Amino acid sequence: MSTSDYVVLTEGLQKRYRETQALDGLDLAVPRGLVFGLLGPNGAGKTTAVRILSTLVRPDGGRAEVAGHDVRTQPRLVRRRIGLTGQNTAVDDNISARQNLVMFGRLFHIGKAAARQRADELLAQFGLADAAEKTPKKFSGGMRRRLDLASSMILAPEVLFLDEPTTGLDPAGRREVWQAVGELAAHGTTVVLTTHYLDEADKLCDRIGVIDRGRNVVEDTPSGLKRRIGNERLEIVAADPGDLPAIEMLLGKVAADGRTPTLDETTLAASVAVSNGVTALTEVAAELRHRDLTVADLGLRRPTLDEAFLHLTGERPTDDLEVSK
Ligand SMILES: Nc1ncnc2c1ncn2[C@@H]1O[C@H](COP(=O)(O)OP(=O)(O)OP(=O)(O)O)[C@@H](O)[C@H]1O
Ligand SMILES: [Mg+2]
Repeated sequence: MSTSDYVVLTEGLQKRYRETQALDGLDLAVPRGLVFGLLGPNGAGKTTAVRILSTLVRPDGGRAEVAGHDVRTQPRLVRRRIGLTGQNTAVDDNISARQNLVMFGRLFHIGKAAARQRADELLAQFGLADAAEKTPKKFSGGMRRRLDLASSMILAPEVLFLDEPTTGLDPAGRREVWQAVGELAAHGTTVVLTTHYLDEADKLCDRIGVIDRGRNVVEDTPSGLKRRIGNERLEIVAADPGDLPAIEMLLGKVAADGRTPTLDETTLAASVAVSNGVTALTEVAAELRHRDLTVADLGLRRPTLDEAFLHLTGERPTDDLEVSK
């Protein structure tokens, strides 16, 4: 890929707030059209990175380009190409959703007819057409956040920055926002978001950059990240407690080097780390059939992103992964 294929590019980005080194040499390269998640513990520097990339804060060192423009020397050009949704909404509670979007369009100096047309497009795109005439104070959290997203999309930005887009929403609201973000990406917008929710990064992002203390920890796809952390586990839940020894023996045969199965006598579940999940699964299934053993459940389990994250940022020893469930 050449430099121009990256919509967001940073090299050695530095930002210090008095005694806090918020960013300490951050490198990011986000290809066009992707949903890129910045994941990291509190204080990792996620918001600082988003604020620098959206030209709200100036970096002390390093380089950052957004849509081909330098955030330090060409902030206006950057601003024309981006949308930003932060924690605080600029939506007016006392006018309808449609009026809000038309008003934002007018603020961006779009003509009246064009602003109305854009408002209707966005209401449809974000699943708010039926609520167009309602005032946002009657909206659920998810609807309101979608209206926020819509309002940051008036000018159809190339890049949209979302700082914790679903914080504080219930599961239904989060799903609504995920769907809206997915739609944006499908329409070609590059999305850079920050999140604390590991399942969110897993579901929503094409790539995830894990950062900690202002530095890169690792960058990968959600499944690549999980693969880095540890082997898949093959798990069997026995239908009959008497079958557990036989199941343990079968699992032992397909275990990854040096691994032994773990048993849970109460849930009747036995599992072991395997190096090739699909092969192990097929072998064990054939053996079970051969021995006429009926089981309650049989499946592969990847480490969750949660486990991956805690491991990568070194907040928990790897051994915990073996027993975590
Ligand atoms: N305006 C500021 N003045 C002083 N320190 C700041 C300021 N903004 C951020 N910091 C510090 O910089 C570090 C990085 O903060 P930042 O907000 O970027 O982290 P974050 O990854 O977004 O965290 P969170 O997950 O809590 O939102 C933190 O230690 C924070 O206290
Ligand atoms: Mg933050």
